[in-house]
Amino acid sequence: MRPCCVKATFVLLLLTVCQAAATEPHPKPPGWAIASAHPLVTDAGVEIARAGGNAFDAAVAMSAALAVVEPMGSGLGGGGFWLLHHAKNGQQVMVDGRERAPQRAHRDMYLDAAGNVRPRASLDGPLAAAIPGEPAALAYIAERYGRLPLSRSLTPAIRFARDGFAVTHRYQRLATLRKPVFNAAAAQVFLVNGEVPGSGTLIKQPDLASTLTLIAQHGHAGFYAGQLAKRLVDGVATQGGVWVATDLSSYAVMEREPIRGSYRDVEITSAAPPSSGGIALVAMLNMLERWDLGQFARVDRIHRIVESMRRAYRDRAMYLGDPDFVSIDTGRLTSKDYARMLSDDVDAYATSNQASGKNRTEGRDTTHFSILDDEGNRVAATLSINYPFGSGFMVAGTGVLLNNEMDDFAAKSGVANVYGLIGGEANAIAPGKRPLSSMSPTFLETENAVAVLGTPGGSRIISMVLLASLAFAEGTLDANELVTLPRFHHQYVPDQIVFEPFAIEQTDLVGLKLKGHQLQRRESPYGDMQAVIWRKDQGQLQAASDPRGEGRGTVILSK
Ligand code: DON
Repeated sequence: MRPCCVKATFVLLLLTVCQAAATEPHPKPPGWAIASAHPLVTDAGVEIARAGGNAFDAAVAMSAALAVVEPMGSGLGGGGFWLLHHAKNGQQVMVDGRERAPQRAHRDMYLDAAGNVRPRASLDGPLAAAIPGEPAALAYIAERYGRLPLSRSLTPAIRFARDGFAVTHRYQRLATLRKPVFNAAAAQVFLVNGEVPGSGTLIKQPDLASTLTLIAQHGHAGFYAGQLAKRLVDGVATQGGVWVATDLSSYAVMEREPIRGSYRDVEITSAAPPSSGGIALVAMLNMLERWDLGQFARVDRIHRIVESMRRAYRDRAMYLGDPDFVSIDTGRLTSKDYARMLSDDVDAYATSNQASGKNRTEGRDTTHFSILDDEGNRVAATLSINYPFGSGFMVAGTGVLLNNEMDDFAAKSGVANVYGLIGGEANAIAPGKRPLSSMSPTFLETENAVAVLGTPGGSRIISMVLLASLAFAEGTLDANELVTLPRFHHQYVPDQIVFEPFAIEQTDLVGLKLKGHQLQRRESPYGDMQAVIWRKDQGQLQAASDPRGEGRGTVILSK
């Protein structure tokens, strides 16, 4: 054989080997791993696994169960993002069940005659509510990706609504916060004689059980058409809201291509717009990749991470919004070149000071769950009605507590929302538009391991997921460690590092101050991360729920 032929044969052989490797089925996980913010919800996932469902069926069951037993965090009156990975073909999609602004919404709807934002108008009561997306997403995921009928996957939620769930300390804390804005229907369900119920009290929701049953029987139309839809629209419209029937009948989930990036040997898949999460996460990791963070003293490491947060959150405020309304140059914002340009002016010794502002809230609500099934399918889902107990407005006779996701829009350019986030034109209110979100359900993957994770926490969601991603990339392949990591955060405005008690050591606080940073220690911890990890190299599964919350992670090795 002539040398060139030898080479050609070799190349062909190599190609064949590579192709074989590429098409070779990935090894399967030895079972299921599930983590959620509530033990009953994790149980619902296990029940569906045992009933022969896949991760997508479990996601439907767990979303609906969260709507019942964690009413302060998410629900049928809200929305969310479900990031799905299909093991069979490697397909990854984000099901966007984000709420949409009603058709009668307009950009100045929360301003007074003088052009100032009317305090709390986008937070309390039915005017704060956008058109819910969660019921549509449940029907869509069940039909498109599930193996079980929707009616089976909704069984645990209907049972919990009928039989009740027990009040916990977290429930009490958040109900106390939102009690003043509950309407009569919400007060009747969530309070006892007008007071926050004692720990262990059972909260039963027969109306919600009926609404879930309607969805179980009629799917999407059970919520968005017919009697229930009429009741929802009338209930809102007579109490100061602006919904009309076509708001509900025209609601549709969207499938979005997730945001992808890489950090060293980790592949990142995360939420696409209308979430800002994926773009900001990838942008921060791109900036940080140019340094060997492991070589830095702790204070220099925190400084670099904070400077990357500052820059990514600035871009969030300037460029991001609903992709159906604004054009977003995702390719550029997530490119390594752009990150280099953005981070070129990071000074090792000094902060890049920016505008000031006020940090508004602890961000203690919303919810997340993570699932990996024994076929290798994955779901990371972050769901919300926004502020604890949403708008506090329940439509009488439906059990549906409405979101106040309208506050995630920029009510006025440059004026901060409840999470202290600012925005401009890209996130201005418009009819049918989805408000910009920070929710960041995420997959991290290396040759040896997969992590599925996410958390609530308002604007701090993205920085929490960043810290977990960095730890994973640096070799923390322990789900418990990932959800426990101490947290710090910077969101461009206000110009301060917010940190959990114990997250930054005293000497490092001094070091950061010397570099010009302003620091604010939170009184309480924040976030409620749920993570599952599959160690492909060891055939091992882990599931962990944040010790700051009340959830549970579980691994089922045999069904
Ligand atoms: O979509 C968003 O970004 C917010 N509505 C999420 C709110 C949240 O996480 C509340 N806090 N824990």
